[in-house]
Amino acid sequence: MRKHRSVVILAFAIGLVAVGAIYADLQLGYYTSLNLGSVAQPAPVKQQPDAAYEISALPLYTPELVPGEGRQDVEAYCNTCHSPSYIPMQPPLPAATWAAEVTKMGKAFGAQIPAESQASILKYLESHYTPETRKR
Ligand code: HEC
Repeated sequence: MRKHRSVVILAFAIGLVAVGAIYADLQLGYYTSLNLGSVAQPAPVKQQPDAAYEISALPLYTPELVPGEGRQDVEAYCNTCHSPSYIPMQPPLPAATWAAEVTKMGKAFGAQIPAESQASILKYLESHYTPETRKR
């Protein structure tokens, strides 16, 4: 009689664990509740060789440089390797930092900028992109 009861309890416990496992799988989304036992996956996409795929225009963010004397030199010499929008992308920088920046472009990256253009670029940066002078 005692043995019989422990077998019943064991069978009940095993059943409980099995139902729990199935329920857990349902919760995870492995099975649909309508079709137990089948793995639910999205239908494969049918590719068509003659289809035309389109994307819209890519957003290009190129903030304009502030108009002013020297802008032409900036646009001519700071446009070779990257967009001149690297300038307005920076926070307002002190004049000395801009000077170091322009020197770095030449010494570290090999920018070829004539001395007089370098001077006018620096004057332009000082006049529009320092904490004191920057307006936008
Ligand atoms: C010979 C190529 C070249 C030229 C010309 C050039 N740069 Fe750069 N510049 C770089 C490279 C390389 C980087 C760093 C990599 C990156 O961020 O794309 C950089 C980065 C910068 C940065 C981001 C901050 C930093 O130090 O990385 C600023 C600001 C900048 N350049 C300003 C200028 C200005 C102003 C001029 C014109 C005087 C200029 N660049 C001309 C190559 C150049």
